[in-house]
Amino acid sequence: MSQDNIQSTLHENRHFPPSAEFVRTASLSSEQLNELYAQAEQDNPGFWATQARKEIDWQTPFTTTLDSSNAPFYRWFPDGKLNVSYNCLDRQLEHNADKTAIIFEGEPGDIEHISYQELHARVCRFSNALKAQGITQGDRVIIYMPMIAEAVVAMQACARIGAIHSVVFGGFSASSLKDRIEDTQAKLVITADGGHRGGKIIELKATTDTALNQGCDSVKTVIVFKRTGHDINMQPERDIWWSDAEKGHNSDCEPVWVDATHPLFLLYTSGSTGKPKGIQHSSGGYLLNAITTMRWVFDIQDSDVFWCTADVGWITGHTYVAYGPLATGATIVIYEGVPTVPNGGRFWDICTRLGVTIFYTAPTAIRALMKMGDDIPNSYDLSKLRLLGTVGEPINPEAWMWYYNVIGQRRCPIVDTWWQTETGAHMIAPVPAVTTTKPGSCTRALPGIDAAVVNQEGEEITHADEGGYLVIRQPWPSMIQTVWGDNQRYKDTYWPYFDGKYYLAGDSARRDEDGFFWIMGRIDDVLNVSGHRLGTMEIESALVAHPRVAEAAVVGQPHDVKGEAVFAYVVLRGDRPTGGIDDELTQELRAWVGEQIGAIAKPDDIRYADNLPKTRSGKIMRRLLRTIAKGEEITQDTSTLENESILPQLQGKA
Ligand code: WTA
Repeated sequence: MSQDNIQSTLHENRHFPPSAEFVRTASLSSEQLNELYAQAEQDNPGFWATQARKEIDWQTPFTTTLDSSNAPFYRWFPDGKLNVSYNCLDRQLEHNADKTAIIFEGEPGDIEHISYQELHARVCRFSNALKAQGITQGDRVIIYMPMIAEAVVAMQACARIGAIHSVVFGGFSASSLKDRIEDTQAKLVITADGGHRGGKIIELKATTDTALNQGCDSVKTVIVFKRTGHDINMQPERDIWWSDAEKGHNSDCEPVWVDATHPLFLLYTSGSTGKPKGIQHSSGGYLLNAITTMRWVFDIQDSDVFWCTADVGWITGHTYVAYGPLATGATIVIYEGVPTVPNGGRFWDICTRLGVTIFYTAPTAIRALMKMGDDIPNSYDLSKLRLLGTVGEPINPEAWMWYYNVIGQRRCPIVDTWWQTETGAHMIAPVPAVTTTKPGSCTRALPGIDAAVVNQEGEEITHADEGGYLVIRQPWPSMIQTVWGDNQRYKDTYWPYFDGKYYLAGDSARRDEDGFFWIMGRIDDVLNVSGHRLGTMEIESALVAHPRVAEAAVVGQPHDVKGEAVFAYVVLRGDRPTGGIDDELTQELRAWVGEQIGAIAKPDDIRYADNLPKTRSGKIMRRLLRTIAKGEEITQDTSTLENESILPQLQGKA
């Protein structure tokens, strides 16, 4: 969202209190919420200890709640033991065994209902298969799958045996996959022959082969799920079909009880510098906030059909597909494909047919569907929906209003949830039966979450006309544990200021007169493209790795559907193309970035210049480049530019 938008939304006077009907049926009342805030205020760790005893089945109860002796490496419930998969599946078996856990819908239209009993059996059988391949506690397993039920089975199976999974989004390239495999030193990769997306097949196995051919010596086994049935290569000795791996294994597998601090998973995310970092999450603390937010923010109830549209390749797909909903015994929907196949009504069609009651998606999807007009959603029966959610980027008030009026039919509260890969679960979000929402604000921090906006000195800013750093001032259970293999980077990235006492989120924010948070965007060189984080440095390194590129600078450009689009300025080795136009090369560079990182990182636009604008000390003038990308008038001082003639080149005017 631009500064101007923020200014106008801060004076947002549209307020949406929850409907009486929602308040009547919700599980958390205003009094109960106030009680939670009061308890957390009084004794923060004590508050979480109570929640942890209530929400988690511990094999060995914890006696220490929080060990801060080696801050910022906080350890929650350090002497407790549990198993996350046990908490998701086994505890449903006694009373809820026949309840549907997963309704899976493939993009081609195939549908499968999987009960808790059946999911438990599948997870156990696959756990046994993993053990038979030599996977034990602490081993890393890469999951590179389509968005199908087996992706969740694979994650749960790793959790069951104490293996640490790292899911790689199916849209990432061979090169990104290889980087993640090498950083984790994974022994095993779980993939599929392919998946259905956008009416096409995504070649997951072929891409895995390419990655493994470039190194990845740690990988001994590749398990391949047959999804599409198209031809692929299987390398004897190394590759095994999922069904063969499972053969002869039974559907019981004793969970491995791990310490609460045992890593449940690693998930790679982009930062301002270097390669993506492996965010390491715990088992106990992570699970706790996955559960509490399912209750507080999603008001999850036994009769709900919960659909979070995120892919398991992102944190949202971890917390609100694979773990949180199952740990609360919910029925979830998993959909393999894109919202526009066979047409723009697919999401609403699924909501209608499968009786979705809670729907959670990203602003970029809302904007894309909004553009297609109201007639499409209006032709479906969305009356079962009772709660809507958004995540991933600030939602513009226009999209919020459309979501509220057209999809929620003014009946459903909207929960705009602010959180990050690193926070593990929602941090700032409405409690739907209590909070009066305002379009564009993620409202208040949840109980036990000490979020604040501070200035450079760490002093809290509470008045609306000043923005500052968004920080979290006390540890919380689902917090990042470290960056995999790089404790120093963890400290440097998240605890650089304020004497290392506050977690730095990397976002800037403001509070309005009600204390509501308004997120303004990243303070680092991270773009948010369709709700996905991309480091500008990462894309720049990909570009300069191309033999024809000498220098590159990447900035974000406002985009009405994606939020931000990737905009690249490139200096070539040799001559600049005449008039700055070379469509063929532009296509080649786009494809190149797609290969280096993945399709989401492809620049929308590339401008060629003789040099990049730099300060006297040699720093690229990014602010100037952003101004140009936005098509705004240049107000910066350009007199220090060595070569002023590049300005029209950068502007695409010469
Ligand atoms: C942004 C996704 C405004 C923010 C769960 C954050 C948001 C980054 C919101 C994390 C929101 C996420 N309002 N901005 N409701 N939710 N963001 O790690 O910049 O993929 O730092 O986690 O997305 O992205 P990540």
